[in-house]
Amino acid sequence: MRIDILTLFPNMFEGFLNESIIKRAIAKESVIIKIVDFRKYSKLSNNQVDDTPYGGGGGMVLRIEPIYDAVMDIKKEDKDAKVILMTPDGIPYKQEMAVSLKDEKHLVFICGHYEGFDERIRSLCDMEISIGDYVLTGGELPAMVISDSIIRLLDGVITDTSLVDESFNDKLLDYPTYTKPQEFRGMKVPDILLSGDHAKIKAWREEKRIEKTKERRPDLM
Ligand code: ADE
Repeated sequence: MRIDILTLFPNMFEGFLNESIIKRAIAKESVIIKIVDFRKYSKLSNNQVDDTPYGGGGGMVLRIEPIYDAVMDIKKEDKDAKVILMTPDGIPYKQEMAVSLKDEKHLVFICGHYEGFDERIRSLCDMEISIGDYVLTGGELPAMVISDSIIRLLDGVITDTSLVDESFNDKLLDYPTYTKPQEFRGMKVPDILLSGDHAKIKAWREEKRIEKTKERRPDLM
């Protein structure tokens, strides 16, 4: 898979690309990630990319031209690239969207910034996504969140067993897990997990998933 991220703040992605599972996925070529600083597409003095809103009001608004040119550069190479805008008024992001996006060959994420963006930028996009009902300073964190959730699902990136039972796969939250020590400050690992009876452990975990989901996220059931 290839992911292009259009941003004015490429340095924000340094940690994301250079640590842990994402770093390994890039090294194994499970994913190619290109960070595109769309300021370099500006044709204005001082590489300006924003301007004041028509009709008045506060703040600066991202102009369409540099983003249009950056998207067209990508589309020249691959007309089928799927362009996705990060915006708080997009479709609320869910695990099932990660599962469906992982089968795309080429994704392009546009990160808005400042107070807003020219409405016509939406016309360049196949999809708009919000990562939650709150407003961030820009689309960079959402682009990382969405990329991360997709990349970990790509073949060979993490072991399949880690993916099978996890939260949201079947609308249930994950079961509780424990490791050593067996007892910590009076808190004990449930006996069943030490029993070696795998059928019983499986049933217990399923029961815990249902219990936890009912208690914390009944809306999922
Ligand atoms: N940009 C700012 N806030 C956002 C959000 N919640 N989701 C996606 N993009 C955003």
